[in-house]
Amino acid sequence: MTDILQELEARRAVARAGGGARRVEAQHAKGKLTARERIELLLDEGSFEEFDMFVTHRCTDFGMEAERHPGDGVVTGWGTVNGRMVYVFAQDFTVFGGSVSETHGAKICKIMDMAIQNGAPVIGINDSGGARIQEGVGSLAAYGEVFQRNVLASGVVPQISLIMGPCAGGAVYSPAMTDFIFMVKDSSYMFVTGPDVVKTVTNEQVTAEELGGAATHTRKSSVADGAFENDVEALAETRRLIDFLPLNNREKAPVRPFFDDPARVEPSLDTLVPDNPNQPYDMKELITKLADEGDFFEIQAAFAGNILTGFLRIEGQSVGVVANQPMVLAGCLDIDASRKAARFVRFCDAFEIPILTLVDVPGFLPGVAQEYGGVIKHGAKLLFAYAEATVPKVTVLTRKTYGGAYVVMSSKHLRGDFNYAWPTAEVAVMGAKGAVEILYRSELGQPDKIAARVKDYEDRFANPFVAAEKGFIDEVIMPQSTRRRVARAFASLRGKRLVNPWKKHDNIPL
Ligand code: HXC
Repeated sequence: MTDILQELEARRAVARAGGGARRVEAQHAKGKLTARERIELLLDEGSFEEFDMFVTHRCTDFGMEAERHPGDGVVTGWGTVNGRMVYVFAQDFTVFGGSVSETHGAKICKIMDMAIQNGAPVIGINDSGGARIQEGVGSLAAYGEVFQRNVLASGVVPQISLIMGPCAGGAVYSPAMTDFIFMVKDSSYMFVTGPDVVKTVTNEQVTAEELGGAATHTRKSSVADGAFENDVEALAETRRLIDFLPLNNREKAPVRPFFDDPARVEPSLDTLVPDNPNQPYDMKELITKLADEGDFFEIQAAFAGNILTGFLRIEGQSVGVVANQPMVLAGCLDIDASRKAARFVRFCDAFEIPILTLVDVPGFLPGVAQEYGGVIKHGAKLLFAYAEATVPKVTVLTRKTYGGAYVVMSSKHLRGDFNYAWPTAEVAVMGAKGAVEILYRSELGQPDKIAARVKDYEDRFANPFVAAEKGFIDEVIMPQSTRRRVARAFASLRGKRLVNPWKKHDNIPL
């Protein structure tokens, strides 16, 4: 009996050693942790339950039968994050470069199937040389099986991808179909074709970091949602994100203990909006002052800064926030901002996370580049996302909200549940100056007359009351009491039931 127990321990030790001490050392030398070290940091201590530790590949080509590593380059299983269940796979770069074989892919599929069936998030740690070259099409099939599951899991359980090494070729499309992608600065990259192929085909010369590093994907392409300094930070922040999310689409997000009075009055908000309408202010200040304990988990912080997206809690309940940021492009909506916010709104709606929208928007950004780039279609994504969302929607107008952008930003007309305005809010078709220049073109040579017309227009429309008279604004509120009003609004909506007409699926303008 002891022999058998010893054999089990010995076999486990071999599996845990991955590709061996030399390769583990090489991994550490690159500033990367091993797959098992990553899982240990991601999950609650001692909570990891492994599957398929002894699975090996079945390839007999290229002398592969002589080289088998139990586990086959990916560690899979489940565990908990602050007591809540998650499934996890971590590719082990020390075994065949973390490359995907048929069996490696099957291990990932097994935990994905369980995640969908049992309703818990999937966290994938990617660190792989791609398709196992020795296995050819068998490896491509394995990827295809994973892709199919990514799609079936989408909107059912949250899926988070951590890119912690190479992720190249078609392999990028698995993370691309998950809800959030986080990268580690300087040690991870993602691209469909690498620098060498790019050089051959287009004669462009770039490094892997320039082509697909964390800076590129968080600032330029928006493929990634966040970049972290190292593996440890990325894993700790993933734990923080998981705390905001429900385990699946049938459950609500967890309610966390809070030590921050939901009725907290914040007098500083009364002077947040400057007297000068052209002067910007930092919308992030409002977000952090509304949040429990000022805790805000920002998504896509480095991309489309004119709109802010992320998670906070109010009365311990998760809320997704979308906010125009007057500090960047005066808070205009453009292609990038619309895409960023639309995807975020759809995530929140899919997982029953209520949405708070903070509005200060002069309109859509004008320009040839915007029109040629398809701002019509991309702006429509945000409009569509808000209009189809059935979760509780609370909106606060802080300053201006003009034109189509007014309607888009979770207005009453798109089934906003509570639409509040600060006294500083202006709801209009456009700013007074622009309006007068169109209405009184013949008087443009007479500055005094025009100034009087502008004042007239402002007196009429530069306030929230015209909209409030029509019931498009439910209430004009004191800025200092915003947290209390928003908290009560969301509390009153906890029983909200709203169902869209039956359809196979919608046809969002992609
Ligand atoms: C089998 C692989 C491998 C792969 C790496 N290894 N990639 N084994 N299949 N795809 C092995 C290496 O032989 C080596 O084994 C070990 O992993 C570490 O690799 P190194 O090259 O020494 O590491 P490094 O210098 O850090 O370079 C990492 C790398 C490079 C940039 C990822 O290994 C590389 O370019 N690999 C091939 C990438 C590739 O072309 N993949 C297929 C892409 S097509 P030893 O025994 O020496 O430790 C694809 C399609 C997916 O992925 C399609 C989905 C639909």
